[in-house]
Amino acid sequence: MPDTTPYVIDEMISAKSIAARIEALAKEIRAEFDGSEQLVVVGLLRGSFVFIADLVRELDLPVEVDFIEASSYGDGMESSREVRILKDLRSGIENRDVLVVEDIVDTGFTLSHVERLLRNRAPRRLKTIALLDKPTRREVDVRADWTGFEIPDEFVVGYGIDYAQRDRNLPYIGKVRFTSD
Ligand code: IMP
Repeated sequence: MPDTTPYVIDEMISAKSIAARIEALAKEIRAEFDGSEQLVVVGLLRGSFVFIADLVRELDLPVEVDFIEASSYGDGMESSREVRILKDLRSGIENRDVLVVEDIVDTGFTLSHVERLLRNRAPRRLKTIALLDKPTRREVDVRADWTGFEIPDEFVVGYGIDYAQRDRNLPYIGKVRFTSD
């Protein structure tokens, strides 16, 4: 595990607020997809694993769960512009309904790359959802169809999201505050 500067975590979004928001989002998604076809819910590894687990349990729809992994931050705090697919889907999505689940849209490179890749496979419908959005950080013009919370330009952890592979297991979203300065 790489060394990190000492930091503390200040709670930004409580577990209770996240749960309430997911319940509301699931209702909107349910209204969009009528349930006549199985929905392929695609989680972007690794940051979305907690969100997708809670989201699918609120979705009153037949779902299939699959995962795709794209390289983004590595182990640091800087986003990379070049997105590589480290693990692809197991399922074909041609002519199927797809929901892509992302943890955070930051610069937008990851979501736009994955969206383009999956649209090229000719799904019947493809929608995107992100738990968090940092709109002020955007470098690529992309927006998820549903967003849980818009947040300011802060580095956050918890609820599946890491800093150098730490803190994914926090039940809430917290802001990283460095204590050495
Ligand atoms: P983008 O390509 O810059 O939009 O980056 C998206 C990815 O960067 C997310 O899926 C996260 O994995 C990671 N990321 C962005 N902001 C944060 C953060 O505040 N904490 C931890 N990871 C982040």
